[in-house]
Order: sequence, then C-alpha cells, then structure tokens
Amino acid sequence: MKMGITCIPGDGIGPEIVAEAKKVLNKVCSVYGHEMEFTDVLMGGASIDAYGKPLTDETIDKCKQADAVLMGSIGGNTSTSPWYKLEPSLRPEAGLLGLRKSLNLFANLRPAFLYPELADACPLKEETSDKGFDLLIMRELTGGLYFGDRFTEEVDGELVATDTLVYKESEIRRIAIKAFDVAMQRSKRVTSVDKANVLDSSRLWRKVVEEVAADYPEVELSHMLVDNCAMQLVKDPSQFDVVLTENMFGDILSDEASMITGSIGMLPSASLNESSFGLYEPSHGSAPDIAGMDIANPIATILSAAMMLKFTFKLEKEAESIENAVKKALKDGYRTVDLIRSGENIAEDKKCGCSKMGDIIASRIE
Ligand code: IPM
Ligand code: MG
Repeated sequence: MKMGITCIPGDGIGPEIVAEAKKVLNKVCSVYGHEMEFTDVLMGGASIDAYGKPLTDETIDKCKQADAVLMGSIGGNTSTSPWYKLEPSLRPEAGLLGLRKSLNLFANLRPAFLYPELADACPLKEETSDKGFDLLIMRELTGGLYFGDRFTEEVDGELVATDTLVYKESEIRRIAIKAFDVAMQRSKRVTSVDKANVLDSSRLWRKVVEEVAADYPEVELSHMLVDNCAMQLVKDPSQFDVVLTENMFGDILSDEASMITGSIGMLPSASLNESSFGLYEPSHGSAPDIAGMDIANPIATILSAAMMLKFTFKLEKEAESIENAVKKALKDGYRTVDLIRSGENIAEDKKCGCSKMGDIIASRIE
C-alpha cells in the first residue's frame, strides 16, 4: 500500500519522538512491502517562531491532502516561554485546537493498558494492579468548554471571566455512536461519564447516550459522575472497558488513566472524523524540560503510529507487529528513564534513551 503521511513534529520532545515513530514505520514498510511518504509541516510554537502564528492555512491544507497525520507534541513551558506572552488565540495550543476543528476530528480514542512488565511502575496498590486493566477513553474533541464562547470583561470594577460549555444533540450522538461501535469490538461495556447532578449539558448527554444505546442491545451501558470516575480509576480501573465522555472531562481523566499505566509516556491516541482519516499523537505533552536530551519515551508515539495503521489504513497485522515489538522490548527489559522506579536496579545496557528505544522496537518488528 502507498500511504501519504503529514507529520507535525512540533515542539519540545516532539521532533525526537516522531523521528522514532518514523523509524519504526519505515521498518514495518520494508518488512510488509508498503510505501510511506512523510511530509513535515510546522504547527504550535515552531510555527509561531517561523510565521508568527501557531497554525497556517498551508499546514491545514497539507494535513487535508494526507491520508493521515502523525504528530509529536506542541507547546512550551507556560511560565517561561515567550509564546505564552502572546494573546491566547496566538499560543501553541490554539494551533492544535484549530487543527482539530478544521479537520473535524471529533472522536479522540485514548486506550490505557497495563503491560504486565510495567506492573511494578504502576503507582496503584499491588492488589489493584495485579488485576490489570485495559480501557479506552472515548473523548469528545471538538465541542464543550474548549470551543464555547469565552471572554473577560470588567463588571462593577472587577474582572469577570466567562467560559461556556455547549453541546448539541448531534454532537453527542455521533461520539456516542463511535463509543458503542468500538465497544462492540471490545468487551461490550460503555461507561458514560458526566456531571448530570449539576450540568444541563450532562443531562442532555445522558439522554442522547441512552437513545444511542437502544441500537446496541448487546452493549451494557452505565452512567458515572465524573468525580466518582476519577476515584474509581485509581480504586479499580479493571471495571472499565469504554469510557465515553465530553471534551474537558476526557482531557483530565485521560491524564489520570495514563499515569496508572506506569508512565504518561505510554499512552497513544487517535483523533478521528466521520471517515477513516485521523490525526495520531501521544496523549502526553511536549515536556520542554527534557527536550533535546534524548531521554524521552517514544513508545506513546510509536503506539500512535500503530493506531494509524489500524484505524486509517486497516492494516491490522502491521499494527499488531508494532504492538508486539513494544511488548517484546519491555519484556526484554529495555526501559526509558520514566519507566524506572527510584531505587530499581536496571542493567546499564537495558537503559534506553529515546533513539535507542526506537532502534530496539524497530529491530523487533517481524
Ligand atoms: C491533550 C492536551 C491538549 C488538550 C492541549 C495541549 C490543548 O492536553 O491533547 O490532552 O487539552 O486537549
Ligand atoms: Mg491533555
């Protein structure tokens, strides 16, 4: 197969981790006889430095022309980087939000899985981590608080800031359908997470999710309040299969879910529109404090590349070859620094920087 991929290396550790994902994809292409063409574009801080804005029309066009987009991470240190002195619509994050909206990427899939090899790095109690977990957060990505009207005004001599949380029935329905479709291919359970005891948008969310559930009699639906869900994720994550939730709740819960896998450096993500087009990126940020040091964990980006092969190109075998190569690398004891607990003894030759971890995984593609 011939595949055209637009890459957004981005900021911070982005360029390093994307380089490792390309390395692994090139190996997959040579083993399975595919062809992949990569076109790099700028977005986020790198685009601000080059063009004065975080997202240009050219970047949007190059993404639209591609079969899929592979991204590293964007943004810098919010207290020290000059990017954060700009007005909010010109900051790096605005580029990512603008891109999600222009490509209509409303469905964000964030799987969190506990590798048995990393059970030691899981911060949960042993009796909890022993049970393992394999869940997927289905986060709505183009609505809610992120895209509602916002403004700051002076009222009666003080500043008042307003953000609005808006959801249309149609927006809830299409993400709920994605969640139920994915659940049909997994353990057939959906937990819809909301704050229906307080928010109108959550009450509408519940109503529409129940309507969609009626079309999926095989899938078991339950509802959970978001504060309880945050607690249940650390108490017993094995209870979850698909967690369906709105944009802001999904942002927060997915960071929590990634941490219980042992490291935030393990969690991939796919952002999809109605068709098979997608943007694939790790769930973690740009870690500017360790940028350029060759110590970042590239696994989340490499696993995002596997999601790309699976969801956009339907290359199941090839996607599995990447997942298996990651498992083998971990099983063989290779660890980036984020996967090593303090005090844990790791042989020198098993300690990996970003590029060595990429080599180890690429060499295990078969
Ligand atoms: C994420 C990130 C983004 C978000 C930021 C960078 C705007 O935290 O993808 O989870 O909040 O969606
Ligand atoms: Mg986030």
